[in-house]
Amino acid sequence: MKIALGSAGAHTTVDLLAVLVAEDDLAGDELVTELDGALDGGLRKAIKDEDFTAKRDATLAVQTLGRCPYRKVLLLGLGPSAKVTPTEVRNAAGRAARAANADKLTSLAVSLRGRGEPAEVRAAAEGLTLGAYRFTKYLTGERRPKKELDRAVVAWRAAKDHAKPTADQKRALAQGEAVGGAINLTRDLVNEPPNELTPARLAEAAVETAKAHGLTAKVFDRAKIRAEGMHLLDAVGRGSRNEPRFVHLTYKPEKARKGRKRVVLVGKGLCFDSGGLCIKQAAGMGDMKSDMAGAALCVGAMAAIGQLKPDIEVHALIAAAENMPDGDAYRPGDVWGSLDGKTVEIVNTDAEGRLVLADALTYGRKLQPDVMIDHATLTGACMVALGTLTAGFYSNDDALAEAYLKAAKSVGEGLWRMPLLDELRDGLKSDVADLKHTGDRYGGSITAALFLREFVGDAKWAHLDIAGPAFLDRVTALGPKGGTGFGVLSFLAYLDELAG
Ligand code: BES
Ligand code: MN
Ligand code: ZN
Repeated sequence: MKIALGSAGAHTTVDLLAVLVAEDDLAGDELVTELDGALDGGLRKAIKDEDFTAKRDATLAVQTLGRCPYRKVLLLGLGPSAKVTPTEVRNAAGRAARAANADKLTSLAVSLRGRGEPAEVRAAAEGLTLGAYRFTKYLTGERRPKKELDRAVVAWRAAKDHAKPTADQKRALAQGEAVGGAINLTRDLVNEPPNELTPARLAEAAVETAKAHGLTAKVFDRAKIRAEGMHLLDAVGRGSRNEPRFVHLTYKPEKARKGRKRVVLVGKGLCFDSGGLCIKQAAGMGDMKSDMAGAALCVGAMAAIGQLKPDIEVHALIAAAENMPDGDAYRPGDVWGSLDGKTVEIVNTDAEGRLVLADALTYGRKLQPDVMIDHATLTGACMVALGTLTAGFYSNDDALAEAYLKAAKSVGEGLWRMPLLDELRDGLKSDVADLKHTGDRYGGSITAALFLREFVGDAKWAHLDIAGPAFLDRVTALGPKGGTGFGVLSFLAYLDELAG
């Protein structure tokens, strides 16, 4: 989809005109009044009849029946104007794109309030790109959508004295498109079926992304994983004919600079998690194609970073494997070494994520990062605790935690800080090895995090358990069911803050 920047009149040739309006502006909004005039008072009447008050997330659609150049006008509520942030704008733009696609309309314009602040332009471009997303690759014949949104305009109200887009607005638009596209790449990888997206194919996707955006990429195959001593990643991958992969992507700004921060991003890449020998029950097992969402986030975030070019060094590490119960599969009772050197007694082969992450975190800590952030669809227990819209957030550093939670809040992603309770550490004691990898059933998300902590050394580290929000069985303002791309926005916002 192409997105243009609008000025007065630029939005007169689209199928759908989406008007963003705050509660306290609704009565006096000039564009609403102008449209109401064109519709012979029909818009204000509909506002009254439908009791539309421009509350946050509220929408009102009106057919124009040929009285305007648009087929439809859509009012999108932003809530009280004092509380409008880019998050409200992103969500409203997402709803507009989703509405256009649902009505088989191929073009739309969103009209921002005021003069189109660059931050709102960027959020609108993100929202449009995300809202237009559909995963239609495997639909054929009648099931293929016949029409799709292919043209959008981001316009603003006060355009008469301000007709030409500024350089800041143009940059904001390009950034928003890059970020939206990167999140959609994450979604594509998550939605891809597991017979297609094997660890090798996931690694290829990461390499393709690196090539497209000027990053460097290293891939370890099974032999190299073994030779490097990543025994836990090897152990998890043994039960599948689709061999594991380890991927290391690097973004370095062109010019060298002293004191530049280095960030390591780590992602769980279980292309399919059957549970292994401790096999999962059949119901819902198909959702475990999404168990590589942390890795997909790494690929998407790096695609965005390659385009946004922040003044910071970023390494993304992906531990990709398939957890299957073939003849060579690892077993409960096994003891495996690790890249760190610690030995681990296997208790439940379905607690595989923390194992592959342990080796990736060890590798990451050796890069001597200022901070290390991992994302993983790690535990069902975290979903029990927080529901499906909020990720569990753990950190061994309060300043990092505060900055990260603030970044997440600024982009409207739900994170909730969880405690690394030392009293639960006893559950990881083993009689035969240095550690067991699971503890008691109670506090399962916390013991998983405590296990990871054993491998981060003294790195400043944060762990996001994204088992809930990475893959949803309901639509949101910004996208359809399935892979959400959750976490990319927060990570990028955090980098922004860190780069200064
Ligand atoms: N990938 C799952 C966690 C998961 C469950 C993610 C549901 C998304 C939706 C993970 O590998 C797993 O199986 N965890 C076990 C751990 C247990 C065996 C200690 C769990 O949560 O049940
Ligand atoms: Mn599992
Ligand atoms: Zn898993």
